[in-house]
Amino acid sequence: TQSFDRADDGELTVDGVRVSQLAEKFGTPEYVFSEDTFRARAREFCTAFEDAFSAHGAEVSVYYAGKAFLTTAVAAWAKEEGLNIDTASGGELGIALRAGVPGDRIALHGNNKSVAEIRRALENKVGRIVADSVPEVQLIAQVAAEMGVVAPIMLRLTPGVHASTHDFIATAHEDQKFGQSLVEGTSGLSGLSLEELLGLGLDANDCYAAISVAIAHREQSLDLRGLHCHIGSQIFEADGFGKAAEKVLTFMHEMNQRFGITMPEIDLGGGYGIGYTEEDHPRGSADVATSLADMVSKTCANLGMDIPHLSFEPGRSIAGPSGITLYTVGTIKNVSIEDENGDTRVRRYVSVDGGMSDNARPVLYESDYTATLANRAPAGEQVLSRVVGKHCESGDIVVRYVYLPEDLQAGDILAVPATGAYCFALSSNYNYLTKPGVVATSADKAPREIVRRETEEDMLRRDMGLV
Ligand code: LLP
Repeated sequence: TQSFDRADDGELTVDGVRVSQLAEKFGTPEYVFSEDTFRARAREFCTAFEDAFSAHGAEVSVYYAGKAFLTTAVAAWAKEEGLNIDTASGGELGIALRAGVPGDRIALHGNNKSVAEIRRALENKVGRIVADSVPEVQLIAQVAAEMGVVAPIMLRLTPGVHASTHDFIATAHEDQKFGQSLVEGTSGLSGLSLEELLGLGLDANDCYAAISVAIAHREQSLDLRGLHCHIGSQIFEADGFGKAAEKVLTFMHEMNQRFGITMPEIDLGGGYGIGYTEEDHPRGSADVATSLADMVSKTCANLGMDIPHLSFEPGRSIAGPSGITLYTVGTIKNVSIEDENGDTRVRRYVSVDGGMSDNARPVLYESDYTATLANRAPAGEQVLSRVVGKHCESGDIVVRYVYLPEDLQAGDILAVPATGAYCFALSSNYNYLTKPGVVATSADKAPREIVRRETEEDMLRRDMGLV
């Protein structure tokens, strides 16, 4: 689907609706989310991965990573398109359940799940809980035993691959909080004594992850469904995923043999990069899926094992390109700056009515975005501009560098593309700005808010007044 288009007069349209109409009806700043694009991308991802792996005789499940962007409606669309939902907290789990997603199609993640979250997941018979550490495996076993149920678990591993992305979103090198080490001799870090290790059939040379496998194998209240890894986010090359898969598969094979088991599944997480600006060149999902399937199949052949069931957790690659943010231009001013050559130049600062509260990614990760004049044709002379928000911070930048028409004026509407993932999700009320709503568009439905704009009353609901 081509949801984002220009009308004959040059105005931006989303699923056939003019942005000026959206802005008038729903106000700005507003997240505009194309239901059609989201559904199409969800299907495209599934088809690409299913086709690539079925060529090697393997089956695939796809879990939409709700952390990227989740509302009740979005969870329902993902379910309708055949995806499962990956949740990272009790709150995300609650939204998926509210949308009518069956428990067995939900996964629960996190590196520090509470007893209440584990219990809620088990009560709703989730398909899997992904355990992040030895203490967590023990806790899940204990909660499940108390409830008299068997918990389906996967173990999140640290394959030691440093993905080329921002440090804050790279998650598979050793020195970060997620997952269980595959490095030999790390079992000592688990706090288990040598005696306890020996009781599990392990020794001090084993890795941390092996302890979890041994405990999961021993505990009656745990069903070890397989192994998981996620190397990071906004990654373009298939290589990192392939290397991680190789490490996890090798470990799986070793553990299967050691304990005489067959773990049925491996989850390779999410992390597929999208284009934010023209500088980004994401590979299509079919391309990534094919190289990954080849690498996995080759590794399994080398190990002499059958290819396990594969699962994936894309978030950004499905939600990101489905959404844009609309802002109204306010004050515009020219600032004198010195460029790299020491020459004095003018930089145009264009202020909009939102900022770091609706898109924290530029401040958090120095992320680059672009912006386009949306309510009319972005024609004429273009001026290098910086789009900034209205917050009390100089770092409150929406788009660092962008050429915008010289005749830009207050009241014009700017659209920032690719804000469908991790913008609404990371939004805040900094400076007591009310949060934008989310309008969903679709070629065959009138645009409607799936999350309504926050009012000042909503925002102050928890302020206890003059107590
Ligand atoms: N699976 C797991 C276990 C994850 O931790 C994540 C993302 C995903 C799947 C989905 O990754 P995706 O396909 O969306 O890249 N707030 C950051 C991104 C944090 C990602 C956290 N985990 C950002 O705005 O860039």
